[in-house]
Amino acid sequence: MAPSPPLDPARIPRHIAIIMDGNGRWAQSHKLLRTLGHKAGVDSVLDIVRASRLLGVEALTLYAFSTENWQRPASEVTALMGLLKTFLIRELDDLTQNNIRLQAIGQLEALPVEVREALAQAIGVSAANTGMVFTLALSYGSRGEIAGAVRQIVRRCLQGELSVDDITPELISAHLDTRDLPDPDLIIRTGGESRLSNFLLWQASYAEIYITDTHWPDFREPQLKLAISDYQRRQRRFGRTGDQVVSQVG
Ligand code: FPP
Repeated sequence: MAPSPPLDPARIPRHIAIIMDGNGRWAQSHKLLRTLGHKAGVDSVLDIVRASRLLGVEALTLYAFSTENWQRPASEVTALMGLLKTFLIRELDDLTQNNIRLQAIGQLEALPVEVREALAQAIGVSAANTGMVFTLALSYGSRGEIAGAVRQIVRRCLQGELSVDDITPELISAHLDTRDLPDPDLIIRTGGESRLSNFLLWQASYAEIYITDTHWPDFREPQLKLAISDYQRRQRRFGRTGDQVVSQVG
């Protein structure tokens, strides 16, 4: 793989969110069981968390399990939950030593109790860390998250706490699971598919999207740097013209 050009430290994306896809195909190409693809994927998680922290990324969000993933064979779901629990227990010291705060988004009540306990412990212990926010999206689905926000807002309107005219994009953002995070600047999807798969649909409005054919277990620091370098070559216009953006920067 060709080395990526040096990154501009002033333009590291604040928030990187990743759809970690391709574990199954990676396993298949190595003639291994799918679950061993997920196990190899955990090594990529560790490498990408470490690399993101060193690069100065403020927030890293990983899509580890979607609401739709519950439909997978029970043996695969059990294996994934086991990997998650082990990861949370084994890596907690390392996360805290690196000043990383862990949090989770999604329908966490659907997770097995032992995963919820490990998660609560990791979130509690790392709560005061300020180096990087590492968010795991677990049993997460963006449509469910948006529906939850709508329910909360309607309830507040019915109780007279809010009026219908108070409903703005900012108010909706403030009722999502990601309320404490900036919107993602860069969304990476490994495994080559070009879709968002119910991930951060509202928050992705102006994210730069980077899709790579690399399967998640092969996605490590060099591949992350390549994605960031691609991001740094893009002009983010947020609806304005290219000339307007250039004159504002200059
Ligand atoms: C998608 O690949 C991946 C997942 C559904 C799970 C991701 C989980 C991990 C990387 C490991 C556990 C995570 C943590 C944070 C410890 P796929 O199975 O859909 O791959 P395929 O499209 O090739 O079948």
